[in-house]
Amino acid sequence: MKSKTLLVFIAVLSLTLFGCPPKENGAGGGDAGGEILVGEYGSMTGGEATFGQSTHNGIIMALDEINASGGVAGRKIKVLTEDDQSKQEEAANAVTKLISQNNVVAVLGEVASSNSLAAAPICQANKVPMITPSSTNPEVTKKGEYIFRVCFIDPYQGPMLAQFVRNDLKMTRAAILRDVKSDYSMGLSEFFKQRFLQLGGQIVADQSYSKGDSDFKAQLTALNAAKPQVIFVPGYYTEIGQIAIQARDLGMNQPFVGGDGWESPRLIEIGGKALEGSFYSNHYHADDPAPAVRSFVEKYRERFGDKPDSLAALGYDSMKVLAEAMKRAKKIEGPAIRDEIAKTNGFQGVTGTITLGEDRNPVNKKLVVLEIKNGQLALRATIDPGASTTSAPSTPISAVQGSGTTTGGPAPNSELQAPTSTVASPPAAGKQPTTTQPKQ
Ligand code: PHE
Repeated sequence: MKSKTLLVFIAVLSLTLFGCPPKENGAGGGDAGGEILVGEYGSMTGGEATFGQSTHNGIIMALDEINASGGVAGRKIKVLTEDDQSKQEEAANAVTKLISQNNVVAVLGEVASSNSLAAAPICQANKVPMITPSSTNPEVTKKGEYIFRVCFIDPYQGPMLAQFVRNDLKMTRAAILRDVKSDYSMGLSEFFKQRFLQLGGQIVADQSYSKGDSDFKAQLTALNAAKPQVIFVPGYYTEIGQIAIQARDLGMNQPFVGGDGWESPRLIEIGGKALEGSFYSNHYHADDPAPAVRSFVEKYRERFGDKPDSLAALGYDSMKVLAEAMKRAKKIEGPAIRDEIAKTNGFQGVTGTITLGEDRNPVNKKLVVLEIKNGQLALRATIDPGASTTSAPSTPISAVQGSGTTTGGPAPNSELQAPTSTVASPPAAGKQPTTTQPKQ
């Protein structure tokens, strides 16, 4: 299973190293006929390599399905992939190359918000629509009317996590450990903090590190001195595992809570037992019994030998949303495709229903909280404001104190429509999660 991932990775790398022919016979970015060129930029190597690799797998899976069923107006789509090595400058270079040399009509990427923020202005300036599958920082889509996403945003994710800690875990003393090099981590820390304070919680300590650091003992010691009950670490998987191990070495036993950036097949590989009993929010759960998720997981496993993480699911959804928009577009060119992406309404994705709002962010996207239990990811809570049916076998995030009947409650300064309906699942007996991992 590792070797398949490696093969895909080598294929991607050689594409990058040996270059993509800028314009092949009959292929063109625009309306000229032949293949339709779409660009993808991502972290195929570097500190966040699994983000790019998983996203790529999801995109390619969707691409093959789209092409097998006739492509777009009889034309096949071709995806050209650029590795940005998990670096902001390279993300900008990658997108510049895709647009100016390869003439792509649309761009998919990135995962890390800082990388999307570096590339989005280039797409905007060139009127090339960009869909980020998974960047959750609110600033990304504010770069202009050509920039979209298919994931929820941090002014929603942060408050949900605060409510989970305060109302479900019933904790009042939280400490924050944030990555100053990451727009995502800095933003999510603030959105969490605002809501947590509003719910009567206290932030007893706030420390930081920089992406790439490997020694976190000084910060952890300082945090521990303030006696937190829980530590909020909205970072990426590479550092999370090391942070948890070092905390346990220092004798700290508080649970860690994080955001979607924890998501990676490497998370538990790195953190091991040190992460037991910790929680993070995510865009989907691979064990979700919903038919769309089951069929995606099966097809992915057949092809790549692995269980798809949420990046794969979001990559898949982003490619599908783009292809649907291109099918509706009067012309295969930036502005026409942009207008159709903006109209995306009720698209049934693997990560839930996708309807894009005025601000080019999905409204009412599903969010799950996962717990690391026995070295596996177990579903702990689901909030699905867009769903009317009950399905997920988990407990909802508890109601906001004093906010009536809503489950999530409007997030303060939320830029996403706050969830107003009930969660997908009825409260299970007690707070015990009832999900079990299927045997593989
Ligand atoms: N949301 C993260 C960011 O904006 C990226 C991410 C999404 C990472 C989903 C893992 C899973 O930076």
